Parts: sequence; C-alpha cells; structure tokens
Amino acid sequence: MPPAAVTTSAWRWFGSNTPKGNALTEPFIKRFDDRYTQSREYQFLDVLNQLHAAVPAVFSNDTQLGQIRMAHAGVTLHEWLLALPAAATGQSQALNALHQALSVSRSVARMDVWHFDLAFRNFMVEQTNALASPSVRLIDFSLAISSRFPVQKPLWMRPDAMQQHPALHAAITEDWRQFFRRNQLSEPPSYDGEFDIPMTAYRADWCNDLAVDRITQRWCVIAHSLGLLLIQSTQFSCLSAEMRMQVDARGRSLMHLATESQAELALEDSLQWLSSQFSAPTPRPRAQVTQAAQAPAQSVLKTPRDISTSNNAPPPAPMLSRIRLLMSVVLIGLGYVLTDALYTAHHLHVTAYTAVVVLVTLALSAILLVSMLFSEHRGRLVNRLSQAQGLALLALALEIWTQRVPGAWPAGIAVLGVILLMLRLEVKQGQRAL
Ligand SMILES: Nc1ncnc2c1ncn2[C@@H]1O[C@H](COP(=O)(O)OP(=O)(O)O)[C@@H](O)[C@H]1O
Ligand SMILES: [Mg+2]
Repeated sequence: MPPAAVTTSAWRWFGSNTPKGNALTEPFIKRFDDRYTQSREYQFLDVLNQLHAAVPAVFSNDTQLGQIRMAHAGVTLHEWLLALPAAATGQSQALNALHQALSVSRSVARMDVWHFDLAFRNFMVEQTNALASPSVRLIDFSLAISSRFPVQKPLWMRPDAMQQHPALHAAITEDWRQFFRRNQLSEPPSYDGEFDIPMTAYRADWCNDLAVDRITQRWCVIAHSLGLLLIQSTQFSCLSAEMRMQVDARGRSLMHLATESQAELALEDSLQWLSSQFSAPTPRPRAQVTQAAQAPAQSVLKTPRDISTSNNAPPPAPMLSRIRLLMSVVLIGLGYVLTDALYTAHHLHVTAYTAVVVLVTLALSAILLVSMLFSEHRGRLVNRLSQAQGLALLALALEIWTQRVPGAWPAGIAVLGVILLMLRLEVKQGQRAL
C-alpha cells in the first residue's frame, strides 16, 4: 500500500478486472510510470516463470512504452470470493482457493521471492466454469524482495503497525527515515500516518543496503500477512459461521510469530488443515501411498511419473476423439436408415417389441443428453449415448431377422450395432485419435 497522499502515483494499470467475452484470452497489460518499478516487476515475473511458479506467464517487457504484457489471470480473489454462493460448494471452493493462495505464497518464498503485499487484490483466480476447480495466481511484485535483486529505493509502502509484522514495520520505517535524512527533507511527525513523498527526490534516490533487504524474519512476515488474509476471509458469506471461527483461529495462529521455524511450521499446519477442509484430495501423501503400494521398493520416487504426482500434477483428462465421434454418428445414421428401409421394403409390422426398443432408446438418449448439460464427464456420456444406439440396433436386427428378411440385412445392422458398442470415443491426451 503506497503512502496515501503521494503527489504522483508510481503505478497505473490498464485492462479489465472482470473479464468478459474473450477477455481471458487477451493478454493483460500492466503500465508503469518508472523504469525501476517496471524492471523489478519484470525480473520477478521472469524468474518465477522459469521456475514454473503460479504467476501469470509474461509475454513481453516494453521499456519504451512502459508496459509488461502478461497472461490474463482472471479476477481478484476478493471479487471471486464475493461471487461465491453461501452453500457447501461455495465454501469448499473458497477453502480450495485460500489453500492455493497460501501455497503459492510459500512456493515463491521458497524460491527466494518474499512478497510483502499478500492481499486479496494480488491473488488472481481463473475458473472455467462454476464446478471446475479454481486456479490461483500471485501478481504484483512491486513490494517483493529477493537476494537476487537487492532493493535500491525504499519500498513504496506506508508503515502500518496494525497490519504489518513488527519486523517489516520496523524496516520500512527505518528506510523512509533514512530517505528523508539522505535527501535533507523535513521528516514527518509520524511515519505511521499519512505523509508526502516528493517524487523528484524519490526518483533520483538510489541507495544500497536497505533495511527491508536485511529483514531476517522473512517467514514470520509472510505468515503474518497470510494470517491477516485468512482472518479477512471470514467476512465472505460463502463460509458458514462455524467455518469462519475455525478460519479465524487459523489466521491468528499465523500472526506475530517470532522465529522462522515457528512461522514455517504454522504455515505448514494451516496448509494441511485447509486442504483437509475441501473435497479435493491432498495430493502428495495419497499419491505416494498409491505408488508405494504398486511400484517395487527402491524405485518409488525415482520415476518421472512419481515426480509429477508428487508435484500435484493431475492426470490428463481423457478427451473425445473427433474421428471416432464422426464415425459413430455415421454408423448410427446408417443403421437407422437401413432399418427404416427394410421395414418399408418388406412391409414389416411395428410390433410392441419394436415400439418398446425405440421408446426406451429415446428416453435413455434424452436422459444422457440432459445429463451432459450438468456433468463434467461429457465424454463418458457421449460414449454411453453411442453404446445405447448400438444396443438398439442389435435389438432391431433381432426383430428384423425373425421376420423372414434375408439374413445378410439384419446381420449388417447387427455388425453396425456391435461396432458402436465397442467404439471408445474417449482417448487419453497425447494418444492418437484412432
Ligand atoms: N495478469 C493479470 N490478469 C488480470 N488482471 C490483472 C493482472 N495483473 C493485474 N491485474 C489487475 O490489475 C490490478 C492491479 O495490478 P497490480 O499488479 O496489483 O498493480 P498495483 O501495483 O497497481 O497494485 C489487480 O488488482 C488486478 O485487478
Ligand atoms: Mg496490487
């Protein structure tokens, strides 16, 4: 949070917070007024992209135009939580997103990127549909530190004892105090209130060895901000009253910690607790148990498959093979056209048996089509639909065969039915279509 009464804003942004239409496929453009801020943001994003952290992919960094183009990452966690329903599904989604927010903050900290502005507005959520699992990304590295990129100006942040961990609060206060002294400016009466920063002096000010870079209790600072985030999340109606109390207690357990080991442990505890509260499985322990049970001893964690499972990568979802789908449609069409032609050419009677087969198939197809609107497993349902038509063709072939039609015709229809029964429309990703 910058000082409230600065004369010029050092940051601007450009783009829509609430993506509409194909906005998600459009890159997000973040604009900057000064190169220092832009270069720090780009350096952090670039290194985190290379380390595959959950941050937006960066496309370009244009210093002439003063802008960074990056992948659109959805809506802010705040907006997203506000829109969740006050029901079990909403609560489970919220806890999932909070878990991801804590998890990405811990991951980037382990990559030596200490984000000192972990707030709802700096987590973005992308979700393809209301039932899909959300994906949370961390943005805005203007208030981050790392031994890779030492800070050269005070962080654009107002000291706030109510919100910040004492170590961060003391360091920021110290950096602004030194800034005023270095530039021979009259110091504000209090660094905790509003104060003005002369932008010309700030832009011209270059300095090494800032106090924020010397903070040793970095895990404590991160845990503290995340604790505050959890406490603030209890304002959202998607959490039940009982859950709010529990989340609040978790949040408090992360604040005002004094040692790094305490902070890391408390963070781990909160992550485990959050993951136990939403329906998605906790991937790492479960994946290892399964692998250990199946794979021979010694090789348990060495195969690439183990590594990807322990990295929480879900197995790729099966997808529909377009060629097989087309084949299935052609076979179904052919089967019914042939059946109809035989009924007409041989003046066959529509018996009660035929009527039952047709009606049951119609009802089943209607149920499967309606289910497709609500299910995530559409591929499986399309498969079942095609198999239902295969069964119907087999039943009709039997009926035609009993009515003294030359055997080759019902046999042909039966073959079409068998092919439809055997045809698997879903293929694993990466597998050839046929
Ligand atoms: N990659 C992105 N995709 C979508 N929206 C973004 C993205 N990056 C930033 N935003 C939007 O712009 C706002 C401000 O961006 P941020 O990087 O936090 O800059 P600031 O330093 O001004 O806080 C965010 O709260 C978010 O609404
Ligand atoms: Mg921000």
